[in-house]
Amino acid sequence: MSASTSGEDAQEFYGRWARLYDLIARRTPGIPALRRRAAAACRLERGDTVVEMGCGTGANLPYLREQVGPEGTVIGLDFTGPVLERARELTAEYDNVHVVRGDATSPPFGSIPEVAAVGDAGDVDAVLATFVVGMLEDPAGAVDDWCDLVGPGGHVVLANAARSDEWYAPPVNAVFRAIVVLSTPPTTKLRYEDAPHLRLDAKIDAAHARLRERSRAVADETHVFGVVRLTGGRIGP
Ligand SMILES: C[S@@+](CC[C@H](N)C(=O)[O-])C[C@H]1O[C@@H](n2cnc3c(N)ncnc32)[C@H](O)[C@@H]1O
Repeated sequence: MSASTSGEDAQEFYGRWARLYDLIARRTPGIPALRRRAAAACRLERGDTVVEMGCGTGANLPYLREQVGPEGTVIGLDFTGPVLERARELTAEYDNVHVVRGDATSPPFGSIPEVAAVGDAGDVDAVLATFVVGMLEDPAGAVDDWCDLVGPGGHVVLANAARSDEWYAPPVNAVFRAIVVLSTPPTTKLRYEDAPHLRLDAKIDAAHARLRERSRAVADETHVFGVVRLTGGRIGP
């Protein structure tokens, strides 16, 4: 299956499930606190520019807007049209939050009028990606590109579901695994050749490991009963 076919599958899938996903994304217990923490881990200052890769229905965008204030810029990028419509509804009150359509592995900033000024190294202060890297063909390569985009001193923050050894972990993991399977586009590759959660675990590990390699300072945290891993990196030279 080609990368573009699996990309089309993902877009069709998220398009169909946008409302349901939005409910899970914003209402699951523990998730709003995680989103606030992920935005704080971007270490933004007022007036900064932050890009959220794979922003989905926009659940993180208000928290990022809170960090950069009215004088900053928030860009939410996703390749699925219907989730972006929801994200636009949620952020309609802010004129400095731009929700744009495009591929997180090759952000089209220069060609989008609202964000045409963004895209050179150093223009972006932080990149956030929550529950996204497991969907990418080459998650470590994407993390490299995001580190290059923010440049030395900028921040890249990843949050993903990860398995935990705590005593209460089995039921919580089962819920997350169900969310992972439900939120994995039904490509032949993901669904039938591999157990989706194992394949996702490997991709997530590769992405977080690459962020650690590229960072001169790293903060690792776990949230939501230990099953969500958050890594924030201040990028080195
Ligand atoms: C599990 S959802 C997470 C959404 C959001 N980050 C959140 O925390 O709720 C994954 C999102 O990543 C988007 N996505 C996956 N691969 C992408 C890519 N290559 N470029 C842009 N968006 C992508 C999907 O369209 C979907 O909205």
